[in-house]
Amino acid sequence: MTDPATDPATATDPATATITVDGANPIGPVNRRLFGGFVEHMGRGVYGGLYDPAHPAADADGFRADVIELVRELGMTVFRYPGGNFVSGYRWEDGVGPRASRPRRLNLAWHSTETNAVGLHEFADWVERVDGELMLATNLGTRGVLEATDLLEYARIPHGTERAEQRRRNGREEPFDVRMWCLGNELDGPWQLGQLTADEYGSLAARTAKAMRMIEPDLELVACGSSGPLMPTFGEWERTVLRHAYDDVDVISAHFYAEPTGDDLASFLASGAVMDAYLGAVIEHADAVRDERGSAKTLAISVDEWNVWYQSRMAATLPTGDDWPEAPALSEDEYTTADAVVVGDLLITMLGRADRVTTACLAQVVNVIAPIAAPADGPARRRTTFHPFSLTSRHARGTSLATTVDGPVSVTSLHGEVPAISAAAVRGETGGVVVLLVNRLPEGAVETTIDLRGELGRGLGGLRVLEAVTMSAGDSVEDATAGHGDAAPPRPNPTARAEGDGVHLTLPAASWSMVRVGR
Ligand code: AHR
Repeated sequence: MTDPATDPATATDPATATITVDGANPIGPVNRRLFGGFVEHMGRGVYGGLYDPAHPAADADGFRADVIELVRELGMTVFRYPGGNFVSGYRWEDGVGPRASRPRRLNLAWHSTETNAVGLHEFADWVERVDGELMLATNLGTRGVLEATDLLEYARIPHGTERAEQRRRNGREEPFDVRMWCLGNELDGPWQLGQLTADEYGSLAARTAKAMRMIEPDLELVACGSSGPLMPTFGEWERTVLRHAYDDVDVISAHFYAEPTGDDLASFLASGAVMDAYLGAVIEHADAVRDERGSAKTLAISVDEWNVWYQSRMAATLPTGDDWPEAPALSEDEYTTADAVVVGDLLITMLGRADRVTTACLAQVVNVIAPIAAPADGPARRRTTFHPFSLTSRHARGTSLATTVDGPVSVTSLHGEVPAISAAAVRGETGGVVVLLVNRLPEGAVETTIDLRGELGRGLGGLRVLEAVTMSAGDSVEDATAGHGDAAPPRPNPTARAEGDGVHLTLPAASWSMVRVGR
């Protein structure tokens, strides 16, 4: 690897990189669930976000049609609901039945008041409107096995039991279509209502899973992994939990939030490399328990919360004391183009692990830590992070291919040296290839060649660049306006050209790009 930052001989030469797409070595099919979203009763995510009967764009059921339209454009597939930290204090029964008799409760996770105007039925209706799949989380913080099996009975038994008949009386004749269930949320976290030790949680998760499978054996059950790579118990938590629950679950979760520190752009842009190391470690821990037990089953990973999150700004927006408002504005941070570059890179990272990461939920969807802003007094709009997500979801359909990158490194103060270029390639069902690329260098373009020789025998002969777009943190106009308008989509990259067995293009500093190649 060359390092123009430290090698005087190359300091003035433009940096170059070659990405080789290894068509003979597919990583695996890209599961559509990789493009999921996470919706929590937090701030104005649900109330004021998805649901706002007073808004001019509201439909007959109070859902904002402008938000629905943007969620569809985002290409989100599976929706995890209703939390998050919220679920650890949630009584699902509060959110079903006639609205007028639903209780108002304290939402302890977010120091606010929960009206319960939206619950399972309403959320499932919303998911149908966006053609999505419903994924539910059960409360294993302040509740347990009984409430989880009650909810499952309510949601899934066609008729003839108390819970099933209750659902039918509440207007839903057919069971809800829900296959994936999260067994609690972030129970390793001291902030979590009902935090548990790994032994306590592992035992509870195993018992809950066994009971749920008595109702429906082939559910897909997700055990909580750590809340993130920086948790002091990370690793030990996974191994301990899985020693209890390995045989009972199918998936282990991982949560990952990136946040810029000061003006250290290089470290922030390295977030994809940090996530990759984290996912690698989660896989190692899970597989170590598999091997210990001699199990024939390999767990999938659900990155069911991930995003760029200005978490350090949260405290200032959280209500305190006697103030328990309904739907306060929480974590409605606007995003810069650098944030969008990192979001694009996190998707690249997960595509590179498509063999194991089969579900991922962008946290969250509307208003709160979200790609969509839904102001009370105006139309819904796209934040910068909207674009890499929607383009990746729309075009990265098919088989993820291994890529090797030969290029410079980025020297960061927080994460050491990381590859300056990250890339994922996906072969579409009809033979074209989409390549997603990030230049993690805060300064300096990289002249990049994508070597597609391995794909040429597979119907890519007569290479053509169908589309090449780039968004760069250096596009100062976008950064200056970040947050106050509809974020501009990536611009066409005029440098992209098919050349010999590949494609050449310039990747500006701190940029995300997508190149679609076909015949
Ligand atoms: O998405 C916001 C919060 O982040 C979720 O409630 C929690 O699970 C995580 O810590």
